[in-house]
Amino acid sequence: MQATPATPVPTPAPTASPAPSQSFKPTKRTAKDYIFGKLIGEGMFSTVFLAKDIHSGKEYAIKVCEKIHIIRKKKREYIKREKDALNMLFSVPHGFVKLYCTFQDDERLYFVLSYAKNGELLNHINTVGSFELNVAKFYAAELLLALEKMHAKGIIHRDLKPENILLDENMHLQIADFGTAKIMDPKEIKSGVSIQEEDESRNERSRKISFVGTPQYVSPELLHNCLDTRTSDLWAFGCIIYQMISGLPPFRAATEFLIFQKILKMEYEFPEGFPADAKDLVEKLLVLDHSKRIGADDQGETYESIRNHPFFAGIDWDNIWEQTPPTIS
Ligand code: ADE
Repeated sequence: MQATPATPVPTPAPTASPAPSQSFKPTKRTAKDYIFGKLIGEGMFSTVFLAKDIHSGKEYAIKVCEKIHIIRKKKREYIKREKDALNMLFSVPHGFVKLYCTFQDDERLYFVLSYAKNGELLNHINTVGSFELNVAKFYAAELLLALEKMHAKGIIHRDLKPENILLDENMHLQIADFGTAKIMDPKEIKSGVSIQEEDESRNERSRKISFVGTPQYVSPELLHNCLDTRTSDLWAFGCIIYQMISGLPPFRAATEFLIFQKILKMEYEFPEGFPADAKDLVEKLLVLDHSKRIGADDQGETYESIRNHPFFAGIDWDNIWEQTPPTIS
């Protein structure tokens, strides 16, 4: 059976299969359809477990959210955004974790996601210290392709960071964690800029910014909390390219407040030996005025100005997902 977005199950449980003469109606899954294994991720409002479907034996990553926590912290909106964004991206063949189904019991909400076996990009960067240039270029290219697809659908991620970028069993990249995503109105997609949200959501976001881990990838306009633009993801893209090559994010400080100050003052340096083409691209992405960032004026569904930057020389944009990724060493 072709998998469809959330709610219907990926493959119907054999116990739920109808007799051949009856019409097929998938049965809602429950936690009993899975064997829960090790913890593979933890967020502010959720815990992710490796789980095995008892019927198919397939592995999934199941995100579990405690309802009481969601209600107390008024995070219902985050859950809805994550589900809506992942449903919109379900048909995109590469670049995103897939949401196969959701279900709930009295206490919890469950998101059944594809399991990205090779975990967070951050762990890979930290394990080797920094990436060889060809590796950084490859993952930057996959990330750009994923951003193109996401932005073409009107989704701004707003929390891109190496912890939210996962690697699948073939070491291809998948973006995860759409809890803080903004889904633009179809009218807004062409300009890439969203009109201001209602106050409640914006207040909610500013509260989030103030307590999420280290906000090292947040753009100046998100810090000012005044605008939703796809170019905020391009700012984070610049920070991630910098980190893959140098080993550390560009804006570092002991406290959140000091990181914010550095971002707003654009206080960062390139380490010695940082390749010239990569430096030029990062400098064109980390621009305070979001409308002046490379890619900001690109029309259509591809970031041609970024694809054509000398940093990406030699990338075969049409075949990236079919290639064997270069070894991280
Ligand atoms: N951590 C969070 N989500 C995950 C996923 N889908 N696969 C692997 N690890 C994860």
